[in-house]
Amino acid sequence: MINSKIKKILSKKNKSKIVCLTAYSKNMAEILDKHCDIILVGDSLGSVLYGMKSTREVSLNMMINHTKSVKQGVKKSLLVVDMPYKTYQNKNQALKNVKKVIQSTKCDAVKLEGGKKIIKIIKHLTKNKIAVMGHLGLLPQTQKGKFRYKGKSVIERKRIYEDSILLSTAGVFSIVLECVESNLSKMITNNIKIPTIGIGSSKYCDGQILVTDDLIGLNTVKLRFVKKYVNLKKIINRSVINFKKDILKKKFPSKKYSF
Ligand code: KIV
Repeated sequence: MINSKIKKILSKKNKSKIVCLTAYSKNMAEILDKHCDIILVGDSLGSVLYGMKSTREVSLNMMINHTKSVKQGVKKSLLVVDMPYKTYQNKNQALKNVKKVIQSTKCDAVKLEGGKKIIKIIKHLTKNKIAVMGHLGLLPQTQKGKFRYKGKSVIERKRIYEDSILLSTAGVFSIVLECVESNLSKMITNNIKIPTIGIGSSKYCDGQILVTDDLIGLNTVKLRFVKKYVNLKKIINRSVINFKKDILKKKFPSKKYSF
């Protein structure tokens, strides 16, 4: 369903950049909502929060529960939810699971990883008025072996470019480009009518997304495309040390904090 939030995202193409971040809980969503156009409940929560080896272990219920929490903190941003691995293997399964996610969380849209291989499924969803965000380039759910940037070979560039055209004609409202080489991202962005959202895919994309926990230094990953804006781990550590000191010195709780 093209709601007003999606129209707003579409209208930003070639006008102003689109700001997106991930959230997994209400408290974080409340902060992000004031500043973001899109909040994504990413299946990255599998590794970031649960220490899973890959996003493949993330279940539909995990996504639903975290989205219910995030939804409580979202007033104005477009709320998008990642469909987990193996929850959209065929048209009927995909529609059934997507409907379950939307009905139980009241999110605005879902994100699915892949191009040509899942195009029939994407078309089925958009025909059924589901707002879908595409995801091309590095696809964590199906990535085999080492993570590296995409668009190195001519064949790979051609495939990603063709996938972007297929997705946009299938009716997705935007496409995440993950770790896609700069000139390829530029070419895709210039040749499709819907916005591209980059993660490690250059300034040429219409918008940018990062995993919030990476950006604030809660998740200690070293990835070339992650800019750490604050080291929250350090700040939290300092606060806990001070709390502990106060307890040991019997400074806390003082009268002010007692009944
Ligand atoms: O799972 C996720 O968080 C994502 C983004 C970072 C694009 O898919």
